[in-house]
Amino acid sequence: MKAGARIQFFDTTLRDGEQAPGYSMNLEEKVRLALQLESLGVDVVEAGFAIASPGDAESVAAVARALKQTTVASLSRALEKDIDASAAALREAVHPRIHTFIATSDLHLQYKLKMSREQALDQARRMVAYARNRCAEVEFSAEDAFRSDRDYLCRIVEAAIDAGATVINLPDTVGYATPDEFFAMVEAVHTRVPNVDRATLAVHCHNDLGLGVANSLAGIRAGARQVECTIGGIGERAGNAALEEIVMTLRTRADFFDCTYTIKTEELFRTARLLASITGVKIAPNKPIVGQNAFAHESGIHQHGMMANARTYEIMTPESVGVMKTSLVLGKHSGQHAFIRRLEELGYKPGAEQAQQLFEAFKLLADRKKTIEDRDLVALVESASASVADPKRGWVLDSFVVNSGNRMTSTACVTLRKGKRKAQEVATGSGPVNASLRAIEKIIHHPFVLEEYQLQAVTERRDALGEVLVKISDETGFYRGRGVSTDVIEASILSCLSAVNHMLDANPIANALGAGTAPARQRPTRPVRAAAAKKPRKAPATRQ
Ligand code: KIV
Ligand code: ZN
Repeated sequence: MKAGARIQFFDTTLRDGEQAPGYSMNLEEKVRLALQLESLGVDVVEAGFAIASPGDAESVAAVARALKQTTVASLSRALEKDIDASAAALREAVHPRIHTFIATSDLHLQYKLKMSREQALDQARRMVAYARNRCAEVEFSAEDAFRSDRDYLCRIVEAAIDAGATVINLPDTVGYATPDEFFAMVEAVHTRVPNVDRATLAVHCHNDLGLGVANSLAGIRAGARQVECTIGGIGERAGNAALEEIVMTLRTRADFFDCTYTIKTEELFRTARLLASITGVKIAPNKPIVGQNAFAHESGIHQHGMMANARTYEIMTPESVGVMKTSLVLGKHSGQHAFIRRLEELGYKPGAEQAQQLFEAFKLLADRKKTIEDRDLVALVESASASVADPKRGWVLDSFVVNSGNRMTSTACVTLRKGKRKAQEVATGSGPVNASLRAIEKIIHHPFVLEEYQLQAVTERRDALGEVLVKISDETGFYRGRGVSTDVIEASILSCLSAVNHMLDANPIANALGAGTAPARQRPTRPVRAAAAKKPRKAPATRQ
């Protein structure tokens, strides 16, 4: 491999990643993640598949408007209507790219497309040219390239480059390849296609056999200069190659790979955490690079070695991927200045009003928790950004009292505020969380189903913050919420309120029927239900 080769990172978290069950995101969430991907330094963000739905097209357009440095790609089948939809969605992008694909393996041609090789080749050539008339950058993917006939693959790649493709992608669509075989395929295209020097070769590896990263690295060694991947390796079935694993291999084994890239690896942890916080899917503790245990050393022998010299058991530092040190940073006597400076050091830039709100939340927390670590600050900021910040628009918690025990029915009395309105309700439930959620439901006069509830401690020790993530639904969609507090009932109420406010934002009529404008008896509420296991229900659009 040529020394100093520049590797481009093409992130498809918002397209291939979002296709995976449980990872759907709404427009605002996609833009938030796309902006973080830009801060991470990826070269290309694949924002979606514009033809798939009006929502997808809007998301691609919103990401295209938001990103100023990064190329924004939209996927299209090799069909004029798909390419037109991508071109329209990318209209406002500073650096647009149309990504078009057609399957090239005999299996896909025969059973899926019902086309001959020659028909597919002709279609690819015509559609690449069609796309190139609409966009200066065109990527062509030969879907299922790895299982395609090698000579035919080389011919279709040559035709696509002749028609104007600037990037040629060679996917292992079903994650079937082994690294040696994948190397051989990329090398064959690299050495046998006569006009290959007019395009950048890319690889896109799925992880069905757990070889996605290994195959991507083999592809780079064989001449690929763009690697397609996702944060946390999320994607169809077993996922795609994980961006953080590829880049940290290139960095940690620079002696072997010797290449350059623009990824700021110190942003990796923040990006993975943002994805987890948006989707509500936790990062597995043993996940390489960004998992909670990736830098934890439990065994005595390891700890002893680490104390003598960290390099005995640590091949990369936590700081190099942005994992926060467990340093004790702030406490009750810390001033606003120190607080804001620390937030900025952690990469947050709150506006004046948000900084004031966060400082107030920090002071309340400092009254309850002696020492506040970086992890607490991050949880505080992220739960604030997950909620509707304007108290005039959304319900905020005023106070609550719960009465609960092992030989009684739990009761909760919850008081909420919205602008000048104040409303209080009492409800009972099988536990204090259930009772509190029912009281909220009575106040807002809008029934909802609790689909998911996750509680975890942000740090160790007894005074740790509890972080609650909830997903609720009504007939219009799913809504996520997040809340933190040293009191888990309060964290539950806060997370539920943040989800409820998003739900009511999407239901203007229900919002107008909230307490203070309609007597409770006009709209009977049904109690908060936990989602029934395997309940067959039409999956509504996911909203926050
Ligand atoms: O896995 C695959 O082949 C793809 C293509 C559409 C690029 O995602
Ligand atoms: Zn894919």
